[in-house]
Amino acid sequence: MSERQPLIAANWKMHKTVAEAEAFLGDFLPRIDDDIAAEVLICPPFLALRVAAEHCLRSRVRVAAQNMHFEADGAFTGEVSAQMLREAGVDAVLLGHSERRRYFGETDEALALKVPAALNARLQPILCVGEAGDERDRGETETVLRRQLEADLAEVPDSELPEVVVAYEPIWAIGTGRTATPDQAEEAIDHLRQLVTTRDPEAGERIRIIYGGSVSAENAAELLGREGIDGALVGGASLDQASFADIVMAAS
Ligand code: PGA
Repeated sequence: MSERQPLIAANWKMHKTVAEAEAFLGDFLPRIDDDIAAEVLICPPFLALRVAAEHCLRSRVRVAAQNMHFEADGAFTGEVSAQMLREAGVDAVLLGHSERRRYFGETDEALALKVPAALNARLQPILCVGEAGDERDRGETETVLRRQLEADLAEVPDSELPEVVVAYEPIWAIGTGRTATPDQAEEAIDHLRQLVTTRDPEAGERIRIIYGGSVSAENAAELLGREGIDGALVGGASLDQASFADIVMAAS
């Protein structure tokens, strides 16, 4: 039995105003028992982070950002640093989500700087990796995962690898309703864990690797029932408090 605590994270993407975030949390937080097994993270847009962190203060739920810059400050118009996120009460940050890679030019070079910058600021990085549909069809899934993981974690010392969470998010499963089968998810996650183990066996045992891509209240129990899958990163189904609460409970 794995010692790793399950992690369920809600990636709201560019959804919910501050008022909507408050309304969600007002309804969601009482649904979450104090003794749940899973760690729960909410990732709202930047403007709702502080309010969300204040709402979650006396709960088991923590708040994460969806992106950050690797520098502490500087002439980087439109960017936000790890230190600024910490001050807003944020505990973690999504890095390298496929939408940031695809639409906003996020590179592995930048991620190699962002992951250690987050760790140095005591923000837990949740590094997203995953292959596109055509890459899977060409049998390149493992090559793509290796390339992303090795590049993005290159500057993280082995001793800090267990503080990172990796989210396996096959691009073809994100927002499509086409979930990876539990076998597909577990196979890719096993490969990622093997890559970390090759670098450092203890880190390979301790690092949490979660799945994301069309996770729903209907399929969560089956995915989270797998030994190798340490949790879920949930997009669309996290926007509704009842459905996200059901997913959290499925991990408990
Ligand atoms: P989805 O998004 O659950 O809507 O597929 C997941 C994600 O992008 O993190």
